[in-house]
Amino acid sequence: MASPLKVGIAGLGTVGASVVRLIDEQRQQLALRSGRPIEVVAVSARSRNKDRGIDMKRLRWVADPVKLATDPGIDAFVELIGGEGGAARAAVTAALKAGKPVVTANKALLARHGIELAELAEKHGVALNFEAAAAGAIPIVKTLREGLAGNSVQRVYGILNGTCNYMLTRMEREKLSFDECLKEAQRLGYAEADPSFDIEGHDTAQKLAILASLTFGTRVDPEAIYVEGITSITTADLEAADQLGYRIKLLGVAVKTDKGIEQRVHPTFVPKDSAIAQVMGVTNAVTIDADGIAPITLVGPGAGGMATASAVVADIADIARGVRVAPFGRPQAKLAATKKAPMQRHEGGYYIRMIAVDKPGTAATIAKRLAQHNISMESIVQRHSGPLGGAEKPQGPVPVILITYATTEDAVRKALAAVQRDKVISGRPQLIRIEKN
Ligand code: HSE
Repeated sequence: MASPLKVGIAGLGTVGASVVRLIDEQRQQLALRSGRPIEVVAVSARSRNKDRGIDMKRLRWVADPVKLATDPGIDAFVELIGGEGGAARAAVTAALKAGKPVVTANKALLARHGIELAELAEKHGVALNFEAAAAGAIPIVKTLREGLAGNSVQRVYGILNGTCNYMLTRMEREKLSFDECLKEAQRLGYAEADPSFDIEGHDTAQKLAILASLTFGTRVDPEAIYVEGITSITTADLEAADQLGYRIKLLGVAVKTDKGIEQRVHPTFVPKDSAIAQVMGVTNAVTIDADGIAPITLVGPGAGGMATASAVVADIADIARGVRVAPFGRPQAKLAATKKAPMQRHEGGYYIRMIAVDKPGTAATIAKRLAQHNISMESIVQRHSGPLGGAEKPQGPVPVILITYATTEDAVRKALAAVQRDKVISGRPQLIRIEKN
């Protein structure tokens, strides 16, 4: 058998330690599948003596990750440090310049500097693999880049953040509060070091930026993404969704429209019978609408050590095999600038929940404002929490929930601003976009 592929790993957190373990456990299979053994020979991490449940004695320690990246004793460099700049960027850049193939799970680095790194990889004729950067163990990078090389994809959308899906699932099923669910996601190790990254939608946006580039052959551009997180979602929204035949998911959506490419991250009403609506807990899923074939949905674990390690090890195996594909599916110079479709022109249905003040004519005022902006209602429910059909009219504010037919973001925003000016609702209306199958 050919000589082993010697790997250096920088970053030995949950994922790094899982990669070392997985390579050990799968030693024989990996050697057979890759045509040569794979050996982790050197590592770099912040603390040398921490117990990681792996045998550190057989691994050479290199304190500086940038030194490890160019170490003559390694054939491939694995970056698991994280962060869009700093040591991660310096080490990956150094490795590529030294002609070493790189595997990284770093979505932040790729979303921000992916194009520059792809250019370096191309110039030095080495692989830059990042299957683990989006949707954990789901092989979505390979699917979009290689598996669908013969198709045109119109839309790719998915649940790309395990923390948010875990939280929404528990809020929906167990009526737990947002804060309780977040604490639990942190305890289980799903959330980012700064969980606002998860719940504000930025983690999803970084992953979507990578998937959109692979899907549409455009330059990675996180600035082109409209981002809204799940912090405003309440159990009242989840209950309303359930009653109306939907579930709420934080989706990343990239879709080709006649106005350009829409890239958006937001809580979304998805029909209960859709594949994506069945996805619960920390699980991720991506649906791809490609021409000539029925939609494809890939479902799998998206966060946690082993889920990420699975994708990292597959990327290392590709390097051992000598496989090298353009990182974003085509030569870097052929990636087009993204023509961003303005969010105001987004078209689709909407869920709106408002707290109407208790005075005659409120519902009529809301209906009038919607009509003025050419918005048709599919359903409207005005519901008091008290018993229905009582002899006495209940007092106080009443939730009004409505679903619109397809309209534009601009029209909905203008109509709701007018309703607020009319002072027939209290507080801000809740607005959630609907994504059809
Ligand atoms: N915080 C991320 C998530 C980890 O919850 O999906 C995986 O990227």
